[in-house]
Amino acid sequence: MKGQVLLYFSFICLDSIIAQISYSIPEEMPIGSLIGNVAQDLGFDKKRFISGKAKIHSRNSGDYVELNKDNGELLVKKKIDREALCADMTVCSLDFQIILENPIEFYTVTVQITDINDNAPTFDRGEMIFRISESATPGAKFVLRRAEDLDVGINGIQNYELKPSDNFTLRLNKNLQDVEMVLQKPLDREKQEHMTLVLTALDGGEPHMSGTMIILITVLDVNDNAPRFTQQTYKAAVNENVPTGTVIFSVTASDADQGLNSKITYSITNTQTNVRKLFQVNKNTGDVSLKGNIDFERNKNFEIIVVATDEGGLTDSCKLMVEVHDINDNRPEISIMSKSNVISENVKINTVVTVINIEDKDSDENGNVNCFINENTPFGLKSSTNSFYSLITDSELDRETTSEYNITLICSDKGEPSLTSSVTLTLQISDVNDNAPTFDKTLYESSIVENNKAGLSIFTLKATDADWGQNARVSYILEDSTISGVSVSSYVSVSADSGIIHAVRSFDYEQIKDFQFHVKAQDGGSPPLSSNVTVKILIQDQN
Ligand SMILES: *[C@@H]1O[C@H](CO)[C@@H](O)[C@H](O)[C@H]1NC(C)=O
Ligand SMILES: *[C@@H]1O[C@H](CO)[C@@H](O)[C@H](O)[C@H]1NC(C)=O
Repeated sequence: MKGQVLLYFSFICLDSIIAQISYSIPEEMPIGSLIGNVAQDLGFDKKRFISGKAKIHSRNSGDYVELNKDNGELLVKKKIDREALCADMTVCSLDFQIILENPIEFYTVTVQITDINDNAPTFDRGEMIFRISESATPGAKFVLRRAEDLDVGINGIQNYELKPSDNFTLRLNKNLQDVEMVLQKPLDREKQEHMTLVLTALDGGEPHMSGTMIILITVLDVNDNAPRFTQQTYKAAVNENVPTGTVIFSVTASDADQGLNSKITYSITNTQTNVRKLFQVNKNTGDVSLKGNIDFERNKNFEIIVVATDEGGLTDSCKLMVEVHDINDNRPEISIMSKSNVISENVKINTVVTVINIEDKDSDENGNVNCFINENTPFGLKSSTNSFYSLITDSELDRETTSEYNITLICSDKGEPSLTSSVTLTLQISDVNDNAPTFDKTLYESSIVENNKAGLSIFTLKATDADWGQNARVSYILEDSTISGVSVSSYVSVSADSGIIHAVRSFDYEQIKDFQFHVKAQDGGSPPLSSNVTVKILIQDQN
């Protein structure tokens, strides 16, 4: 490489000739490289140059260059590093004088050192770490370290690049003094918690050189995610009467946030008091359990609203539909709607004695009830609808045979196992005067010794009546008739109540040996019933 002559001029001073010459060379030329031929460029002939013993005078630049005194060539003596020599001064030059003797002349030589791109941009640290909240809004800026390039001008830093540019873009001011990273698109910790970006500083030299710095970003969580249940609606089934404390279902919600922002607490928010009384949720596990007794007969299903809340107060809710299954836990209930405690023995067949209502609170087969009564009674059960039964007479009644019935009504449901209820009705059969009194014998015969006292009781008749009370109260009546033209009542009398037959007079065997008459037995019914009997009296002789 050869130096370039930039400028050449001269002027005359009083004592000496002063002229100035200037070269321009790039830095880093190898030792011995030719900068220029001073003798030629100053217009000396060779003799004068040699005789003048040309030499370099310099305060501090002399180390870098040397002069060939024989031919006037100016050579690089030591490696010239522009950055070491001039740092960031953009115009960098070596200034020295070339002095000749006899006569003394001196010339100012300037060697401009031009920059070559021998330094890459560098950052003073390999990485920068940022912790940025995911709630940071677009436009938020983050100051980045600048790079340095020892070279100057076009060889200095010309640009920066930031990659990838999904969320952040680079903002540079004109002189590249401020390097900022600007949030362009919101961050989402739940999608990407850590990011690595590369900031590259580029110089403008040929070829380009670059330096890089890693930017590590950790996205900090904010509570921007509400809990979410795995399902909006859950279904559960439970048998009624299961013990309190039984867990019937477990609901689950999750939260995409971190730490406390994802800590979920479950609660039941129904306003209906029965739901709150019967169910509870474990606030940590989501286990829904029973707190009271559920009764299918009161509630066939429940809709429980469970809310999941994170520590930041964000919520989600779900419905838990609980279907209650029936258990055969209710006996049939028998209620007597109307009943007769007493019925007459002459009622017609199919007379309704009692109306009964049956209720079973269970469902389906558990509530399907059948009723029957004990056999061997003159009664039957007729059902009008599923829940109403009539107890009716299905044959004739006879109080004289059976005056009281204990009728047991048994009702059973079809559950497994079946539950049964029973009730016993006591029914009295009331009397109707359907029986006449009947005498012990079809014919009474008795004897009496003559000369008896009047008023002597001869014997007693006995008639009985199968009926009851007044219908069975027997009165004895002497049927009117005549014996030898005389009324029977002048021979005997019958006590109406007791049936005792008295002699009304003293009998004489010689006059009458026997006689007979009729006695009627009559009951107190209305109308009365009666029957009669023949009584024969024999008179016995006495000496
Ligand atoms: C009916 O039941 C009652 C009470 O148990 C009892 O005193 C009575 O003798 C019973 N009657 C019949 C006809 O069984
Ligand atoms: C007595 O009873 C018989 C049948 O047992 C009847 O024929 C007769 O008329 C009755 N006599 C009187 C007086 O009632």
